[in-house]
Amino acid sequence: AETHYHEFVIQEQPVKRLCRTHKIITVNGQFPGPILEVRDGDSLIIKTTNIAQYNVTLHWHGVRQIANPWADGPEYITQCPIQPGGTYTYRFTIQNQVGTLWWHAHSQWLRATVYGALIIYPKFGLPYPFATPNQEIPVILGEWWDRDPMAVLRQAQFTGAAPNVSDAYTINGQPGDFYRCSSQETTVFSVESGETVLLRIINAALNQELFFAVANHKLTVVGVDAAYTKPFPTSVIMIGPGQTTDVLFTADQSPSRYYMAASAYDTAQNAAFDNTTTTAVLEYGSETCSARRQSSQVLLPQLPAFNDTATATAFTAGLRSPSKVGVPNNIDENLFFAVGLGLINCLLPSPSCQGPNNTRFAASMNNVSFVFPTTLSVMQAYYQGVQGIFTADFPPVPPVRFDYTGNVNRALWQPVNGTKVYKLKYGSTVQIVLQDTSIVTTEDHPMHLHGYQFSVVGMGFGNFNAARDTPKFNLVDPPVRNTIGTPPGGWVAIRFVADNPGVWLMHCHIDAHLVWGLAMCFLVENGQGAQQTVIPPPQDLPQC
Ligand code: C2O
Repeated sequence: AETHYHEFVIQEQPVKRLCRTHKIITVNGQFPGPILEVRDGDSLIIKTTNIAQYNVTLHWHGVRQIANPWADGPEYITQCPIQPGGTYTYRFTIQNQVGTLWWHAHSQWLRATVYGALIIYPKFGLPYPFATPNQEIPVILGEWWDRDPMAVLRQAQFTGAAPNVSDAYTINGQPGDFYRCSSQETTVFSVESGETVLLRIINAALNQELFFAVANHKLTVVGVDAAYTKPFPTSVIMIGPGQTTDVLFTADQSPSRYYMAASAYDTAQNAAFDNTTTTAVLEYGSETCSARRQSSQVLLPQLPAFNDTATATAFTAGLRSPSKVGVPNNIDENLFFAVGLGLINCLLPSPSCQGPNNTRFAASMNNVSFVFPTTLSVMQAYYQGVQGIFTADFPPVPPVRFDYTGNVNRALWQPVNGTKVYKLKYGSTVQIVLQDTSIVTTEDHPMHLHGYQFSVVGMGFGNFNAARDTPKFNLVDPPVRNTIGTPPGGWVAIRFVADNPGVWLMHCHIDAHLVWGLAMCFLVENGQGAQQTVIPPPQDLPQC
């Protein structure tokens, strides 16, 4: 195994998009950021220096970080942020993971522009479980704002209203041909006829689930979230923020130029969103002369309508692991988390209550709206025995159960604020049913669990019914993921073994919902042996 050393400098960089030049926050001036390429078993050392004006942390999304929460990165959960002028070195090892992951800032809304791919090849000499592709292409989907994303965030926090939507979706940082001043910079991928291509698709968008397709080309999904899947043929994929999807296709169409494109999947009623399409060009033949480039017309793929829940859910529900996976059969911790938006009533009209009907938006899990600490991280507080940073009373079930199909109990409209964690014994087997509360709106919440990969054993619409639904769970070959969408107006069930000690954030990967409090933490206690006990914090762990 190798050790890869990188220096990441968090810095401002002027970039031009949509006719205007802005300064954005980047790593090393690159947007998207550097691509990390490693093999399973390799270690990474990433010296991160912050010369930007904001506090920042970096998160290695999906890396398990066994007994090493100090390298995970969410600010005020496992570390204090790296302040302007500060440095912190992330050190971690990839353990039994292969495929596509990514990294991103985990402070405020900095991940709008601070992100990049993390590609994990199999151990040396281990082949892919599919035909070796002729080329591999990272495809990073994102969002672009005309305004500074941090200003968009501040505006939403100040007014209590929903944040402004982005001004474009992007592929590898470029909006593509259908946006103003963008066609000269559209991302172009060249392929040769007959080649097999592996696309490593990452949804780095802040707030938007996306459909993705390639004109005229059939796709075969072979992996998600750094775990292989049974080959799954499809013409379109749905990918939530935080998720990755590896797809193969063959360049078997007549040599020409084809669009690959992404558009929104967004069922939130009343929600304004950017109903536009981002494109990149798939171009056959590297020799194509620019004259032909100008003239040849490019085919656009058929993308589903923005509210096509049936297509989105059928895609997600169709994925399987290649073979039997070890899903826990007996459950020690049977958890039910109601996740959704809420509205906090304001007593008097005020500038900070610009939500619907004199309210401000909130979001919660089991009626608790998560509050990030500001003086110490939860992990440090736990490790050092500092009181007053968090409480260990996150409820395993909602305070009131109700009908989640629209007949909404007012109790969940006004969540309570808190920094609450749920304790798990090392090695306990856990099931979580995530139920969309459908309060305010029905919406797909892409739920991400740090430090773990879990099995997605079932999903459905309406209210989860344990007696009816549990017997139908797939405990044989469910897909293994780190981020799963809770279907709009429905539920999803996951299982895992609590075999990674530390503090691990679980949250909606739509950042608008995260800042409203759609998060909680697991605190997994130490076990006995090595890899079962949290390692001591590194000396350079930032101070608050
Ligand atoms: Cu990719 Cu806590 O997130």
